[in-house]
Amino acid sequence: MTPQAATPATAASARNGGDSTPEARTGVSTRNLDDRTPETPAAASARNVGDRIEELRARFGADLTVVGHHYQADEVIAHCDLRGDSLELARRCAALETRHIMFCGVYFMAESAALLAGKNVRVHLPEPSAECSMALMSPAGLLREVMKKLTRNGRKVIPLAYVNSTLGVKAAAGELGGAVCTSANAATMLEWALREGDAVLFLPDKNLGFNTAAALGLAGQDLHTARIVRGAKDLDTTAADKARLILWPGFCSIHTRFNPRQMERLRAEHPGASIVVHPECIPAVAAAADAVGSTAFIIRNVNEAPDDTVLGIGTEINLVERLARQHAARLTVLPLVESACTHMAQTTEESLCTALEALGRAEDSGEESPYRVRIGHELQAHARAALERMLEHCA
Ligand code: 13P
Ligand code: SF4
Repeated sequence: MTPQAATPATAASARNGGDSTPEARTGVSTRNLDDRTPETPAAASARNVGDRIEELRARFGADLTVVGHHYQADEVIAHCDLRGDSLELARRCAALETRHIMFCGVYFMAESAALLAGKNVRVHLPEPSAECSMALMSPAGLLREVMKKLTRNGRKVIPLAYVNSTLGVKAAAGELGGAVCTSANAATMLEWALREGDAVLFLPDKNLGFNTAAALGLAGQDLHTARIVRGAKDLDTTAADKARLILWPGFCSIHTRFNPRQMERLRAEHPGASIVVHPECIPAVAAAADAVGSTAFIIRNVNEAPDDTVLGIGTEINLVERLARQHAARLTVLPLVESACTHMAQTTEESLCTALEALGRAEDSGEESPYRVRIGHELQAHARAALERMLEHCA
């Protein structure tokens, strides 16, 4: 999909609920001054933060590109030059001719952007503690131990790391002959990995792994979910050695909030509704849905739905609510349940403004901004190889 640009005017408009009238821009009615409602201190402060962000964006001009993942809140998206899912943003950041990328998303996404961006491009994360809890479920050291056990008899096992993983995991995957995938290309990459080796270790998301395998017809003994709660010593090597796909037991706590009861309720209340869910949902939800796909797939599905359709969506609430507003005139778009990613929500207009101010000071003093994402030199080559293997196969 085409990334969308935000201008200072659209940013101001979005902060005022999308209205671009003089009233909305100023917060003051020009119709009848006697009816005027004074602006609250909170609204004035939000307006000031937004205006300051736009001043800073204007100061940097083409030297700065603000990018945002679809799960970011509207107040942040309003200031983004580009918005996309993780695959699209990784691709776009690799091609950007700019000096600074301010990445509104979670850490692993900014790390991927920093890995792929040109050598004169610096990537910054407005909220450096915005981690993805699923990415943290697969420590690189444990991955290496598990791989050692799985390959102890000479079996060729290919590690396939979902992009929602740490740099250390991507580097281990690259070094051990594997690659990275996103939810948009998991099936293509899983087919590639199955061709490359005797078996595949998919990590960290067991649900994305299972749902992708099911779509490719893998089932039964072909699949094994690794038991590694207390470390690699827990691994059932007998079962793992028989499987063609070994699933790491990680999950997304935002997408696993959706369940079949919510789907039944929505269908009972809206007969004929179509339900579309993200593949990080549990298999029972994926199996009961009308369609399963990545963020880009969900957006396309809503954009292309015939008029008057009721759509139930199983993904992060900021995206669902944005789609509902965009299509309010012709569709009913409902969340299965409101499920917000608290990690994504750590980035706010305030934190974006603070990081841009810091970047401005850093430029003035010739120092490095503390918000810059730094990539450990020793991991770079292998992690980049894993990401590039994905981009090669999914051009
Ligand atoms: P996408 O790869 O679809 O952008 O999703 C990223 C993510 O974090 C999903 O929870
Ligand atoms: Fe991570 Fe889930 Fe949030 Fe995506 S929605 S960033 S997988 S915790």
